Amino acid sequence: MAIVTGGATGIGEAISKKFAKEGAMVVVNGFPQDPVEDVVESIVNAGGRAIGFVADISVEENARECVRFALERFHKLNILVNNAGVFPVMDESQDYPVDVFDYLVKNNIRTAFLMTKFALPALQETKGVVLFAGSEAGEKGLAENAPYGGSKGFMHAFMKGIAVEQAHYGVRANAVCPGPIDTAWTHKETGPMSSKNERELILSTPLGRRGTPEEVANVYLFLASDEASYVTGALFPVDGGITAAKGAIGKLAKAQAEKPSGDLSLDHTLDGATDMSRGADAPGPAV
Ligand SMILES: NC(=O)c1ccc[n+]([C@@H]2O[C@H](COP(=O)([O-])OP(=O)(O)OC[C@H]3O[C@@H](n4cnc5c(N)ncnc54)[C@H](O)[C@@H]3O)[C@@H](O)[C@H]2O)c1
Repeated sequence: MAIVTGGATGIGEAISKKFAKEGAMVVVNGFPQDPVEDVVESIVNAGGRAIGFVADISVEENARECVRFALERFHKLNILVNNAGVFPVMDESQDYPVDVFDYLVKNNIRTAFLMTKFALPALQETKGVVLFAGSEAGEKGLAENAPYGGSKGFMHAFMKGIAVEQAHYGVRANAVCPGPIDTAWTHKETGPMSSKNERELILSTPLGRRGTPEEVANVYLFLASDEASYVTGALFPVDGGITAAKGAIGKLAKAQAEKPSGDLSLDHTLDGATDMSRGADAPGPAV
């Protein structure tokens, strides 16, 4: 039984679908504006088990309720995936708007703290696992979105604290650290990146392309499984080599580095959180 926060678009959607495909009962969480019901429907139609929990889980009551709801429906909790996050702007720090910073901290950091806090008692009962959405940006920082890199650095250190502190309950914690992934965030048409940003992220990735959400979900699946029973406190890069790279190494990528076709269908009407139109106080239309 798993909770996936931000589980209705991008990487989270792939995690929800991958976990359900492997037999997990999944609570798919997302903002009211996210296509949560679409994803639940598609999992159920494929023979899996999923229910939606539509709420802004940066709000204390909502996070507590998400865990309570999951336990009421599925009676136990084995996996919490702290995947929710936002990526609203690319701006140098002297120009970075303070309200965007607050929105980022709330949705990238507060969500993970609250969900972990409320899920731990149930995870201690099952000797479960908490997985965090880290990033190569949490290691190397991110120019033009320095607060975002900082929020991921928090995730890495927070995860390690949880791993050490919770080991005596049998609870594991790990972080998946993607490089540039093929979601709304990394395309100029759907997110705040410019064509220069797009070009740079491909050129600095040895595999010379974005990773697919499914390639990231595969590593989450491993870390959630018993196959990873001795893995805790670890940062797992899923980054096409970008963390290790120096220079414009992606120029050398050849056909052998092409993306796999994969087998998850991830199409729906609305993609990732790349502006501030989502959340309990957001002006955007709620579903
Ligand atoms: N896309 C990348 O290149 C990349 C790289 C490294 C790390 N990551 C991390 O992976 C995770 C997923 O990113 P993505 O690219 O799939 O983006 P995405 O926008 O498609 O997914 C994030 C989801 O979280 C939801 N969300 C955010 N705050 C929430 C809240 N308070 N309550 C409920 N739902 C909330 C968003 O609405 C969105 O559906 C993020 O944590 C991100 O930092 C992404």
